[in-house]
Amino acid sequence: MKAATRQTNQVVIETATGNVRFEDQHPGRGDAGRELRRGLALPQKMINPKFFYDQLGSELFDQITRLPEYYPARTEKAILTKYRAEMARYCGRGSVIIEPGSGSSEKIRLLLNALEPSAYVPLDISADFLQQAAQRLGEEFPGVQIHAICADFSHNWSLPRTLPAGKRVVFYPGSTIGNLEPEAAVAFLQRMRQWVAPEGGILLGVDLHKSSDRLNVAYNDSAGVTARFNLNLLRHLNQVLGTRFDPARFRHRAFYCEARQRIEMHLVSVEKHSVACGDEVFEFEAGETIHTENSYKYTPQGIEDLASGAGLRVGKSWLDDEALFSVHYLEPA
Ligand code: SAH
Ligand code: AVI
Repeated sequence: MKAATRQTNQVVIETATGNVRFEDQHPGRGDAGRELRRGLALPQKMINPKFFYDQLGSELFDQITRLPEYYPARTEKAILTKYRAEMARYCGRGSVIIEPGSGSSEKIRLLLNALEPSAYVPLDISADFLQQAAQRLGEEFPGVQIHAICADFSHNWSLPRTLPAGKRVVFYPGSTIGNLEPEAAVAFLQRMRQWVAPEGGILLGVDLHKSSDRLNVAYNDSAGVTARFNLNLLRHLNQVLGTRFDPARFRHRAFYCEARQRIEMHLVSVEKHSVACGDEVFEFEAGETIHTENSYKYTPQGIEDLASGAGLRVGKSWLDDEALFSVHYLEPA
């Protein structure tokens, strides 16, 4: 790879295959450090789940998607495979596809032949993982123009001016929307609506409400991969903050909270201890937790409410036979 241009913090790189560009719009470590310290100073210590995704975190998430207990990934892939022709009719051929939180870009592979997009824009916070995924995809699909953007999608970032004109479709699978608080999910849908208006749409994957047993097992897998994913956050914190969090002093906890219809993930301090961070000290009581993730589960009505709150309507919904997971085409109302 060769660096082609550099403007402020934006680096554009062109790959050998010629159809892949990578642009770094990530705000950088200073912002991340301030956000992390604020969260650790709260009475209920809290860290935004976006901090799971350093290189190892992205790899561990990839392993999670292949676990027998983690039904969402394989169920959504089956829905995409079964209904891709119909989905393509809603999305339209030749559209620009934007995928926030694209990870390994595994799922778009299932749709590319049906959608024949004029460009694909994967967007992710995990820079190297994104770049590798974009390069692999570009080599596999040399006819698809790929413009990868490393950015925090909850902050300011911009679509490249060089994208082809025409219809835009946001592909937001994986129930990543469930990791946002419901009010933030509506606000993010509103933003996506602006990206695609007036004629585009949003292909949204959402995990559905179900028995707490099934959910608890999915986030407490027997191989301990979800526990490693959760604990890896401490290693990432140490890198960003220069702290010495010791993963051996914490354990993974995940449970379904029926009242709020969400999985909560926490890191539980197994003993009283403190962690220095510059001139601050974070104190932990035995049993005290850092709240690391919520994963909201929705009913079909809940999804309609999210959409209408954002000025969108559900054009079509696709579910698996057990109604475990759902994919929806949303369009401006
Ligand atoms: N879309 C993929 C990956 C889902 S995992 C799938 O369905 O399998 C969630 C992805 O969102 C991760 O790759 C993570 O790095 C990314 N992500 C989470 N928060 C983000 C943020 N604020 N900005 C950009 N990417 C984010
Ligand atoms: C990315 N996101 C939708 C996953 C989820 O299920 O909430 C992240 C995850 N956390 C633990 N396992 C998977």
